[in-house]
Amino acid sequence: MTRMPFRIALVVASALAVVAYASAQSSMSAPDAITARQQLMKDQGAAMRSISQKGKAGDIMAIAVDAETLARTANQIPALFPPGSIDPATSRAKPEIWEKWSEFEGHAKDLNTKAMRLAATARTGDAGATMGAATDLGRTTCGPCHEAFRGPEIKK
Ligand code: HEC
Repeated sequence: MTRMPFRIALVVASALAVVAYASAQSSMSAPDAITARQQLMKDQGAAMRSISQKGKAGDIMAIAVDAETLARTANQIPALFPPGSIDPATSRAKPEIWEKWSEFEGHAKDLNTKAMRLAATARTGDAGATMGAATDLGRTTCGPCHEAFRGPEIKK
């Protein structure tokens, strides 16, 4: 095989991957998106609890993996809020999400940035700086996004 066909094959393969990704995004139904993002948020809550437990136990470097979970899942947030995925019976997502999309997306980006920073700080083993960064992350990313874009608890 010459070089050229191989490179073309690579280009075709990556183009197909992009198409598959795009159709996976657009074909996700509202109920599926709601279930998936609520699970993602539960995972984020679990990562935050793990960070605080490890902080209390002095297991500072081990916090890096939880911070990486937060960074990775933060990047997945926008795709799990397709337009129209709103259902007051099952979801606390407010319509303001789609009216102020760049602000909403900005909170997810901030979470990614701060979680990466937290992972790097945890790796230094500095307990004070790490727990400070974790508190700051919660106060400046989870908190404001919920404040602006999450409605009241659903009574069941
Ligand atoms: C970009 C905005 C945004 C960010 C950032 C964000 N959340 Fe959320 N979160 C939401 C929205 C909106 C909901 C409601 C989703 C729904 O019900 O459809 C939610 C729901 C939740 C829930 C409830 C899930 C359930 O239904 O059981 C938890 C727990 C949660 N978030 C934790 C976190 C934690 C911890 C962080 C930070 C590490 C975080 N979130 C960051 C927007 C955000």
